[in-house]
Amino acid sequence: MIIAVDGPAASGKGTIAKALGRHYRLPVLDTGLLYRAVGLSVLKAGGDPDREEDALAACNFGDALLADPALRSEAVGSLASRVSVHQVVRDALVQRQRDFATQPGGAILDGRDIGTVIAPDADAKIFVTASVHVRAERRYKDALAHGGHPDMDSLVADIQARDTRDMSRDHAPLRVADGADLLDTSELTIDAAVQRAIALVDAQLEGR
Ligand code: DC
Repeated sequence: MIIAVDGPAASGKGTIAKALGRHYRLPVLDTGLLYRAVGLSVLKAGGDPDREEDALAACNFGDALLADPALRSEAVGSLASRVSVHQVVRDALVQRQRDFATQPGGAILDGRDIGTVIAPDADAKIFVTASVHVRAERRYKDALAHGGHPDMDSLVADIQARDTRDMSRDHAPLRVADGADLLDTSELTIDAAVQRAIALVDAQLEGR
């Protein structure tokens, strides 16, 4: 069984994917981390994320990088979004994601193109979304809780820039996959969003 969870930055898809993983006892892959590792690896090599050659060279990152706390920063999220426009980067990461998706027993993957490209035949697909303002507010609270000094206007601008790039790129743009159910988390608590996600997945599994 494969469950695809897609959506824009800070929509809550990561939290929902992890909760679904606990509920259905399935392993979860946060595919954004792979793109973040490529972005961080370009940065460390002093490369240019917008140059295809530099981004491709960065795809050879060692697995240790996946545990680097810097991966979670908004700066690296933005680098990830920039390297992810290159088809060669997407190609370099696709096998790893498909291997995870097709492991015996099943899996959950969250990202931007799981239901459209990585696992179009997934058994259940959810597209998690929330208003830009709510997403920026979540990032703001997150940064405060981690001792940061966030600026609301720049968070809104970052999220909008990332949405635009992720949705307008030529290869595997962010869009609602055929057969996906929309889950808008703007007005929902985490618990309510998770309960709704489980209900949507259960209904899709029953309707197969
Ligand atoms: O989900 P995230 O914020 O960690 O993702 C970071 C960036 O990586 C996102 O802005 C675009 C890219 N990405 C992608 O292109 N495809 C995916 N499946 C996951 C992430």
